Amino acid sequence: MNRNADQAVELLSQGYNCAQAVLAACGGRRGLSRETAMRVAGPFGAGIGRMGGTCGAVSGAFMAIGLKYARTGPGEDAAKETGYALARQFVARFTALHKTTCCRELLGCDLSTPEGMQQAKDQKLFETRCATFVRDAADIVDDLLAHTEDDDSIRRVVRDKYAAVAESTLSNDVAGVAAVARAFGYSTEELAAIPAGANMGLSCGNPTATASLRPGEVVVDLGSGGGLDVFLAAKKVGPTGRAIGIDMTPQMIARARANAAEANLSNVEFHQANIDKLPLADASVDCVISNCVINLAPDKPAVFREIARVLKPGGRLAVSDIALKKPLPDEIAGDVMAYVGCIAGAVMIEDYKRQLKAAGFAHVDVIDSGSDLNAYAKVENQSGCCSPSMDDASPKSSCCGTPLKVAQSSCCTPATQSKPELHSRLADLLRRYNVNDYAASVKVYAVRPG
Ligand SMILES: C[S@@+](CC[C@H](N)C(=O)[O-])C[C@H]1O[C@@H](n2cnc3c(N)ncnc32)[C@H](O)[C@@H]1O
Repeated sequence: MNRNADQAVELLSQGYNCAQAVLAACGGRRGLSRETAMRVAGPFGAGIGRMGGTCGAVSGAFMAIGLKYARTGPGEDAAKETGYALARQFVARFTALHKTTCCRELLGCDLSTPEGMQQAKDQKLFETRCATFVRDAADIVDDLLAHTEDDDSIRRVVRDKYAAVAESTLSNDVAGVAAVARAFGYSTEELAAIPAGANMGLSCGNPTATASLRPGEVVVDLGSGGGLDVFLAAKKVGPTGRAIGIDMTPQMIARARANAAEANLSNVEFHQANIDKLPLADASVDCVISNCVINLAPDKPAVFREIARVLKPGGRLAVSDIALKKPLPDEIAGDVMAYVGCIAGAVMIEDYKRQLKAAGFAHVDVIDSGSDLNAYAKVENQSGCCSPSMDDASPKSSCCGTPLKVAQSSCCTPATQSKPELHSRLADLLRRYNVNDYAASVKVYAVRPG
């Protein structure tokens, strides 16, 4: 039962119009006062100004979306786009139920005329039909906003954890960190050729090894962390090409830029952004790479659409990631640390392919690389994999050397500032379930049709 929808119907029965009912009910939880809701939505009833146009319940829902997602100042274009996207999704869902958003079509009478108004009263349409529209509008808008709020809170948790990793002393000089990268396909020579701080042991593959990068190309790394793959890509595309890193965590961007200054490379740049809203022009990129990041994105179809948008026709995607071979047990699937640790956010291999195809990609392949997600545990006699604990990031205490809280837990799981009980709970889960039974390090290839 949706309490906002019940409240909206109750407000309608008290004589407020449909727009007021929906906005007051759905806006309250998002900080809007009842009086302001009634004032703002007042003129929108009965198809806006009693003209029989767009249903007031729909207008009220749009206003509730705007409370959360709208451009209110410079640099907020992403919020504007989200608001528009949610409005479109709302209309799609509302029309799926009622075929139209037009008041006069919904009611079968025109409230802009005295006859239409009389008909609505005689047939008690306000109490019956309008109550249904108000309830459905409140339900849909609450559901849409709840999903985005969930996505926001996931991103916040992920950002906090990786901010702590970025500020740690983890680097390629820590034996376990280098071992993690080597186990996922990096050569000792590759690792020696880039700043040590670029590798924090967060990878699950080596995308530049399979991306076939050529001199002069523009390559973008999604979730670039300390810049590991950006620096390797920069060497391959050379001074006539560009290697661009995108990461949403400011501390990662700061670390990557410091590494870039150390590497003295003229063809690298780093930008802070979510990978589902890339700050790049349409058709401007030859190749998109990424390493153990897309599994962390709450809205993967949006990420794939963005990749398709920025790739040139004929451009390619060469990604390392985690995907599922079979559904996770509920207790892992619902665990936030398993999410941050690159497991619980992963989708089934078949869904990965389907979502890429739905975004317009051709030649889609998602191949199990066969890497052991417990590889480092085996190498160094521990139970975890690719992210050592920052607390213990000294050369003698590697990823898998001394007992590291997160190294014992999961692939890519950062540790500090997390409650110890979270780590021990995840470590316990991963002792009871072999992660390799469910998840795989995958190589993803796809081409934007030319
Ligand atoms: C597991 S680490 C991988 C880092 C790097 N690719 C590597 O292999 O060293 C995940 C990185 O992705 C970033 N990230 C996670 N979700 C993201 C998102 N939705 N948008 C942008 N960056 C994201 C994190 O800040 C973090 O730096």
